[in-house]
Amino acid sequence: MSPATPRRARNGHFHKPANHVIVLFGATGDLAKRKLLPGLYHLHVAGLFPDGVRIIGSAPSQFALSDDDFRAHARDAVTQFGNTKPTAPEWDKFAAALSFGAASPDNPAPLVAAVEAAEKAIENEHHGRGHGAGKTVERLFHLAIPPVAFTSVVGMLGASGLATPDSRIIIEKPFGVDLESAQALNEAVHAVFDETRVFRIDHFLGKESVDNILAFRFANGLFEPVWNRQHIKYVQIDVPETLSIEGRAAFYDATGAYRDMVVTHLFQVLGFVAMEPPVNLSAKQQRDEKGKVFDALRPIDVKHVLRGQYEGYHDEPGVKPDSDTETMIALRVEIDNWRWHGVPFYLRSGKSLAGSRQTVTLGFHAPPLRMFRAAKLDPSGRVNEIVINFADPGSIHVEFMAKMPGPEMTLGAATMNFRYQDSFAQANALEGYERLILLAMFGDQSLFTRSDGIERVWEISKPLLENPPPCLPYKRGSWGPEGIDKLIAPYHWHLTRAEMGKA
Ligand code: BG6
Repeated sequence: MSPATPRRARNGHFHKPANHVIVLFGATGDLAKRKLLPGLYHLHVAGLFPDGVRIIGSAPSQFALSDDDFRAHARDAVTQFGNTKPTAPEWDKFAAALSFGAASPDNPAPLVAAVEAAEKAIENEHHGRGHGAGKTVERLFHLAIPPVAFTSVVGMLGASGLATPDSRIIIEKPFGVDLESAQALNEAVHAVFDETRVFRIDHFLGKESVDNILAFRFANGLFEPVWNRQHIKYVQIDVPETLSIEGRAAFYDATGAYRDMVVTHLFQVLGFVAMEPPVNLSAKQQRDEKGKVFDALRPIDVKHVLRGQYEGYHDEPGVKPDSDTETMIALRVEIDNWRWHGVPFYLRSGKSLAGSRQTVTLGFHAPPLRMFRAAKLDPSGRVNEIVINFADPGSIHVEFMAKMPGPEMTLGAATMNFRYQDSFAQANALEGYERLILLAMFGDQSLFTRSDGIERVWEISKPLLENPPPCLPYKRGSWGPEGIDKLIAPYHWHLTRAEMGKA
C-alpha cells in the first residue's frame, strides 16, 4: 500500500486524510442519492474524515439548488438509503459542511466561488493544517454524472482553473463505450489531470470480500499453491440480479449488461482472481500485475458469448421499441499465460434473473483415482469448489466430499464456511464507495483502474462489440435464455444448496 493508505496509529485510531474540499458533480442524481451522500455521511460519523472537510454539491445551472435545499436533499437521501441515519448532533455538523455551487461549461463561476469560500473556511478554522499531513486543503472532484458529460466537465475544470496540479478526480463508469472512446476520454482527462491524480472508480473493488481475495490467496500457504491450471478446472464469476432496470432506461438502454457490469466490475474481479503475487501491495505493483492479466486475456470469441433480453424489456418506460440492448450476458474468456492456460473463466451478469448473488467459484480437478462409490456424489457432478461470495458482508465456502456416518464408505457433499459477520466485528465496516472515496482522499490508487488497463479491456472486447451475437429472449425470473447451460457445459453454474433443492 502507498505510504498514505489509511492505517492504524499507535493509539489504535486510523490516520485521517488531509483536509479536503470534495466537489460532487451529479449531486442531485441517482448515484449521489443512493450511495454517495449516505456514504459520505457514514465516513463522517465513523470519524474517518479529516477535521476540515467541506462537500460541495454541483450540477448544471438549470438544476442549481440553494445550500439549504441541498442540505435537505442530502438529509432525505441519507434517511432513505443510508445505514447510518441522520441524528443530532452528528447530522448538524455534517450539514454545516455542505454547500452547493452550480457549474456549466460556459458558467463555472458559482462553483469557483463555492470552492474558494470552502477552502477559506477550512483554512480559517484549521490554519491550513491538514490532519497530520501539514498541508493546505486538497481538492477532490467526483464525477457522478452520465458518461457523455465527462469530457465537458473535465474541460471545464481545466479551463476554470478549478483543477490545480494537486487536485484529484474520481470518474465513474463506464469509462468509454469502446476502445476509441476510452482512448479519447483518457486523452481529454490527461490534458487536465496527471494519471497519478485520476481515480477511475469501480465500487466492486471497494468491497471487503473482493479485497479479501488478495489476503485469501497471498496470506495463506494453504490456497496459493493450488491456485493454478494444475489444480483448477474452471472459474466462474457470476453476478445475476433479480432487479430489473428499475427505471434507469436512459442509462441502461444505451449501455447494456456487458458495458454496465462485465467491462467494469467482472473483469476487475477477474484481475484479482487471476493475478500473480505482486512484489508488494503498492498501487503500482498491484496494478502492474492486474495489467498483465488483462494483457494475457484473449480477444473475446463471440462463439462463446450468449446475449439475452428479458421478456417485456421493450415495455419499460424509456426503452427504444426496437432495442437490441442485452439485459443479460454470459461469456467464456481465456487467459493465455502459464498459470491459467486452458482454464475457462465463465462470466455472467444480468437483470431480472432467478437469483441475486456476487460469487467467484473455483472448481477443482477430481483426484486421479476414484475409489469411492459414485452413486451418492453431488447430483450436479461437482466435487471440490471454493465459492467466494463477495456481496457484502461476504463469505467463503469450501465444498468438499466427506464420509457420511454409517457402516458403509459412502460420500456426501459437505461445506466449510467462513462468514465475515461471524468472524470479525463490523464496527469499521465500510461500503465499497466509502472505502474508495477515502482511498482517493489519501491518494492511494491501488483499487482504481489505470488507463492502460481499461483500454486493454476494451481492446479484447472489440470482436464482441463489432459483431454481437443475436439477443435471445428469456423469461423474467429464469437463469437466462436457452443455451445458458450449454455455454458452460460440461460444467454447471454454481447453485446454492437451497437452489439445487428447488432445481
Ligand atoms: C452498478 C450497475 O454499477 O452495480 C448496476 O450500474 C448494478 O446495474 C450495480 O445493479 C450492482 O452493484 P451492488 O454491488 O451495489 O449491488
